[in-house]
Amino acid sequence: MCPQNIFCKMLNLVIFGPPGSGKGTQSTKIVDKYNLTHLSTGNLLREKMESETPLGKEVRQYIDKGLLVPDDIVLKEIQQIINGQDDMPGFVFDGFPRTINQAEAFDRMLDKNSTPICLVISVEVDEEELFNRLMGRSEDSGRSDDSDEIIRRRLEVYKKQTLPLISYYKSQGKIVAIKGMDPVDKVFGKICHAIDTFLHSRKVLPVVD
Ligand code: AP5
Ligand code: MG
Repeated sequence: MCPQNIFCKMLNLVIFGPPGSGKGTQSTKIVDKYNLTHLSTGNLLREKMESETPLGKEVRQYIDKGLLVPDDIVLKEIQQIINGQDDMPGFVFDGFPRTINQAEAFDRMLDKNSTPICLVISVEVDEEELFNRLMGRSEDSGRSDDSDEIIRRRLEVYKKQTLPLISYYKSQGKIVAIKGMDPVDKVFGKICHAIDTFLHSRKVLPVVD
């Protein structure tokens, strides 16, 4: 476990939240402002899925059902990407980690490079709003998992398998909660405030309202 006042040689951020909370939207803005690299496991797995390889076909079986892709597949992809990338400004990990097993394995990977997660930004949005946003997006997203039934399953899977990570990162003193019901730019402002405060203090913050 990393001490709260650890010096991060990279700015590694996790953007955490349920489907539709705005992880992708906010990640794009964060990487622009802080010169970081966006690593979305959702985007990565969707690219795999488009290929007709055995791996792509396997991934599709999970994504199309709204289920999580098995940890070993996801962790292998992450490991390949971050290997030897310890001299970069940092990453925004979007949609990863998503299970306690992924989080523990990820901590071990990052510890080896001495590039720990600095801050976990947890974006909180009411469930009804999440559902409405994703149903709205389904009109033109082209995503096979943006349909009524599958959105509901994704939300259930989040509650069961991903929500426990909040306690995991709380115990590391790394999590900051951001209310995500406001318009995009207002949410972004709160996220920037949290990141800037971290950068100034190198300490993790209380909940930002
Ligand atoms: P992933 O691609 O990560 O999808 P998700 O978590 O379900 O979330 P979304 O991408 O749908 O939403 P988002 O939070 O990024 O919000 P967005 O910015 O798009 O994962 C998909 C699948 O891949 C998983 O189900 C799983 O199968 C697999 N997978 C991925 N990672 C995995 C992992 N680590 N382990 C195992 N399996 C994994 O915004 C949503 C909508 O809301 C948009 O229309 C946007 O314009 C709008 N919006 C955003 N912010 C606001 C705002 N403030 N106000 C109003 N509207 C807003
Ligand atoms: Mg996304």
